[in-house]
Amino acid sequence: MTQQPDPQKIRAKINQQWQDGDFTGWFETLYSGAQQNPDIVPWAHASVHPLFTDWLEQNPLDGTGKRALVLGSGLGDDANKLADLGFDVTAFDISESAIAWSKQRFPDTSVNYQVADLFNLPTAWHGQFDFVLEIFTVQSLPLSLRDDALKAIPPLLNTGGQLLFICLGREHEDTPQGPPWAISREELKQLETDGLHIQNAEDFLQNNTSRRFRIVYRK
Ligand SMILES: C[S@@+](CC[C@H](N)C(=O)[O-])C[C@H]1O[C@@H](n2cnc3c(N)ncnc32)[C@H](O)[C@@H]1O
Repeated sequence: MTQQPDPQKIRAKINQQWQDGDFTGWFETLYSGAQQNPDIVPWAHASVHPLFTDWLEQNPLDGTGKRALVLGSGLGDDANKLADLGFDVTAFDISESAIAWSKQRFPDTSVNYQVADLFNLPTAWHGQFDFVLEIFTVQSLPLSLRDDALKAIPPLLNTGGQLLFICLGREHEDTPQGPPWAISREELKQLETDGLHIQNAEDFLQNNTSRRFRIVYRK
């Protein structure tokens, strides 16, 4: 008989991990506990992220002959979309179950889905990517990891490469009670310090409630 997810058990284990200061291990607890039921994963749409779809409508991409990287790829839809646009795509997530689930959802995709940790990425990836997509991964990590998370991104782009960064936005003086820990424009300046330039920045309310930053950087 197929096991059913037990949300209370998952929540109890995650709470314990947070209490123990384990702010990356809980993602695996959630994805493995979900037993492939996307309703258990709060951020999962099981479709391309609406803020990425919307951006693509305004900024059509042709990935022919280009390489893309998706950070914290979750259930894999955004990576698969980039492959459909012609990119040679690598997508990674720290959760083994999320990666296995992505492969199962897209058995025929050309995406190279890999288990990897943003804080310990292969140096062979440095300077390799024309397009990097970050949606909601950095904000899912506590403020104590913010600088290191942001510093991991610019080295991945090649010269001229583009980063699309989508996150929950906040004023710097506000203290976020995460997860998620909303990101301030001051914090994002780390990306500019590390060699990226802003091409376009949007600051808006999604569904009239949640503040979002959607920023395009170029190296
Ligand atoms: C809030 S979810 C967003 C997932 C996906 N980008 C989306 O928009 O649906 C954050 C994702 O980042 C992954 N993640 C968290 N910390 C990570 C790390 N250190 N390295 C790689 N992936 C990480 C989690 O497993 C999770 O899939």
